[in-house]
Amino acid sequence: MRRLDQLLANLGYCSRREARGWIAAGRVTVRGIVADDFGAKAAPADVLIDDQPPDLPDGLLLLLHKPTGLVCSHDADEGPRVYDLLPPRWLARNPAVTSVGRLDKDTSGLLLLTDQTALVHRLTSPKHKVEKVYRATVDRDLAPDLVARFAAGTLLLDGEKAPCAPATLTIISPHEAELTLTEGKYHQVRRMFAATGATVLTLHRAQFGPLTLGNLAPGQWRELPLDFFG
Ligand code: URA
Repeated sequence: MRRLDQLLANLGYCSRREARGWIAAGRVTVRGIVADDFGAKAAPADVLIDDQPPDLPDGLLLLLHKPTGLVCSHDADEGPRVYDLLPPRWLARNPAVTSVGRLDKDTSGLLLLTDQTALVHRLTSPKHKVEKVYRATVDRDLAPDLVARFAAGTLLLDGEKAPCAPATLTIISPHEAELTLTEGKYHQVRRMFAATGATVLTLHRAQFGPLTLGNLAPGQWRELPLDFFG
């Protein structure tokens, strides 16, 4: 149960003050009866706003196919954002919708977005070893000994004190490989290849834990059940 003005504001419909105006204007009903008390508590399932049920009142978890060219930052000064792909109202929600980890502007692929703070912490913690699979193309031939170097758990990235956790590299063609990581250091894939002298030219995340993109086109997203990860 939530106060009606808070419910509307937290779901991004309007400010709390505006919500009071919406309620006074008869735009909100509770179990079919026009609400007149903005402080009354109601279950979201009983509420209609302009005759529509509230948008994902219990929270959201989205699987997005991030195109290149968008940033995961909330700061619009950093360029077009992944959040700009979503209905504008969702940007005003509280708790805020945020990405589970980040992909670089030039990286495409599978990105989770959610307002479930605890889930973000759980899925990004290296302790939980969630596997992320990346496809990279690089500027030079990939030497077969890289497989063992990445698997050893000793690769030290520039500026880091702890080595990377063991990672699985599969060389697909001379300039293309798949890399599976269980952690997510800043720019990790690019920096791992840089540590071996190679520059990553394109990077795509194909898998996050059990999830793949299926036939989602770049820029498209779909909802996942909130309890998808248990
Ligand atoms: N590693 C990177 O270098 N970039 C990403 O976007 C993701 C992983």
